[in-house]
Amino acid sequence: MKKDIITLAIESSCDETACAILKNGREVLSNIISTQIELHKKFGGVVPEVASRKHIENIPMVVQQALDEANVTFDDIDHIAVTYGPGLVGAVLVGLSYAKALAYTLNIPLVGVNHIEGHVSANYIEDKNLKPPFTTLIVSGGHTHLVEVKDYGKYEILGKTKDDASGEAFDKIARAMNLGYPGGPIIDKLAKKGDKKAIDFPRACMDEGYDFSFSGLKSAVLNYLNAKKMKNEEIVVEDVAASFQEAVVEVLATKAIKATKEKGYDTVALAGGVAANSALREKLTLMAKKENIKVKYPSLILCTDNAAMIGCAGYYNFINGKIHDMSLNAVPNLKIGQ
Ligand code: KG4
Ligand code: ZN
Repeated sequence: MKKDIITLAIESSCDETACAILKNGREVLSNIISTQIELHKKFGGVVPEVASRKHIENIPMVVQQALDEANVTFDDIDHIAVTYGPGLVGAVLVGLSYAKALAYTLNIPLVGVNHIEGHVSANYIEDKNLKPPFTTLIVSGGHTHLVEVKDYGKYEILGKTKDDASGEAFDKIARAMNLGYPGGPIIDKLAKKGDKKAIDFPRACMDEGYDFSFSGLKSAVLNYLNAKKMKNEEIVVEDVAASFQEAVVEVLATKAIKATKEKGYDTVALAGGVAANSALREKLTLMAKKENIKVKYPSLILCTDNAAMIGCAGYYNFINGKIHDMSLNAVPNLKIGQ
């Protein structure tokens, strides 16, 4: 009988220190996430140096907890999977150094994983039957990419943002309205009580292929807020949130459906922190239904940063022989498919 493959995965590219144990790539035995959100809240965003230091403090505990919860020991692990980019270089290095030390000591293969490819792979955990090819819309704090998943670990970028990432736009708008950090979940919640047609914010690049742009929308919202303040007029934050969110979501969903149709695929998968957005899920599902396209998205815990998704991507790299040696370094601007 074929032996099960057990993966120990580590993720530390931003403000979550995470470790997961997986069986055969898609079965999550444990998924421990220690978030630093509270720590960074007072600064209104992630402070890289603070994040790195906290990762160092957290990582031994997080790894031990993942082993305990999965009821395995280091001796059961077949390979290590670890994020080596993109992300904050100091933060990535903490997880990567720890992973290298583990791989070296245990004498097992080290598999470096692209964080963004990890986000896409969260969909394989969520839906055990999902197989490439399909299109994926990757929307996170640092990325907005429309990508063709041709096979496991084989990606082709169709389009991306020319300026701000969609999650970044959510965070910046929330900050401008003093709503707190991270902005996405707060805006998502407020928007439910607002009118999405209240303010007509711009939809950029609607007719320009698969690229995106969110900086014009961000400026339009900031100008709206400033004009209201100058005139001493009341700002209905719920309406601003709903109208802004609708402008983001409409562009994202329209392009994702267009790409899926044009490429002739029957499935589109959402990935990344913004995939948690309820309006995006709704809009995409609605538009997809009309075209007979299936929509996949990971459960909330698998949308934002976690190590289970890194383990899944790492497993496919591992079985396809894509392993690294001890010279693997952090690549802060690592591109998808590299
Ligand atoms: O993927 P992620 O956890 O980290 C990165 O790799 O960037 O994504 C974090 C981003 C943040 O910008 C956050 O505001 C956004 O995802 N986000 C959301 C929601 N939940 C998280 N954006 C919109 N709606 C949400 N519900
Ligand atoms: Zn991420």
